[in-house]
Amino acid sequence: MSVDLRSQYLGLELANPVVASASPLTRSVDSLKRLQDAGVGAVVLPSLFEEQIEHEEMATHNLMLAGTELSPEAGGFFPEMQPHDTGADRYLKLIGDARKALSVPVIASLNGYTPGGWTRIAKQFEEAGAHAIELNVYFLAADPADTGAAVEQRYLDLVASVRAATRIPVAVKVAPYFSAMASMAVRLVKAGASGLVLFNRFVQPDIMLDELEVAPHLVLSTSDELRLALRWIAILHGRVEASLAATGGAHTPDDVIKVLLAGADCVMVASSLLKKGPQHVDALVRGVEAWMRERDYESVAQMKGSLSQQSCPDPDAFERSNYMKALKSYSSEFA
Ligand SMILES: Cc1cc2nc3c(=O)[nH]c(=O)nc-3n(C[C@H](O)[C@H](O)[C@H](O)COP(=O)(O)O)c2cc1C
Repeated sequence: MSVDLRSQYLGLELANPVVASASPLTRSVDSLKRLQDAGVGAVVLPSLFEEQIEHEEMATHNLMLAGTELSPEAGGFFPEMQPHDTGADRYLKLIGDARKALSVPVIASLNGYTPGGWTRIAKQFEEAGAHAIELNVYFLAADPADTGAAVEQRYLDLVASVRAATRIPVAVKVAPYFSAMASMAVRLVKAGASGLVLFNRFVQPDIMLDELEVAPHLVLSTSDELRLALRWIAILHGRVEASLAATGGAHTPDDVIKVLLAGADCVMVASSLLKKGPQHVDALVRGVEAWMRERDYESVAQMKGSLSQQSCPDPDAFERSNYMKALKSYSSEFA
């Protein structure tokens, strides 16, 4: 029996639902080709950061001002000047090169937290050939004066501003820390998100005891982390008019199968590929295919959401009662 692994994500047709998430493995054309050869359904390039774009705009602006101060004639020269080889230029080149080298969809990524002029770069992503944009909103509300409502509005304004800048689909990658995730998901879609990427994994800082310093501490994920995305994708499937991508903790074919059953349109992987290499994509895809054959699933479309909250026999399993059951069922040799 042949199985149909195709999946629709952001209106794009993926040959299979395993997507290379933004990571160092997606930052060179060689590595992107290896991922494609291993059978990936699409790739997400690493993020271009708001700070990089703003910093470069300011640097160019300052250079022009400095030139005007030096000599009045110089003022006429500097506006023609193009900033060369900036982070943004290199990024646009990566999009173009990736499009030329690959046949799978190329999703470019923007990382920011304030609605503003920098979001105009989305248009250049489109012109460089990106099939879609993933907007990673990475913001920590550390100011006690910042209310939940104000933070949420900032997210929505940011999504609307990227949406207005381009015609290609925009997926939004967010962290899970909203007090009303389901409502926020619906509002993000209303603001213009064609897809939700669940969830952003915050890099938590650590304190180095020897140096008495605070340092960033990036730890790769394990399969245990998958259940956060699993729960929310199951809850949101059928409730939002948008594609759903799972990210965080997909390491094995079983992990991929679980989030598809919960309702994901694709599964984004970074840590498992960084640990095992691009070739691991093939093991994931073949593993999903073998499981589908064994269980007589004909297509990924048939699997998708068949255990979402709306479809599963025990919808409470995704909510509060699951917590009570889990605590009661815990056993330890010491308790
Ligand atoms: C070294 C590294 C670099 C990453 N860079 C980016 C990035 O540039 N943009 C982004 O949205 N996510 C980035 N991520 C997050 C991944 O795309 C992914 O969402 C996250 O690691 C969870 O998936 P995983 O459990 O498969 O690793 C990065 C992750 C790692 C480990």
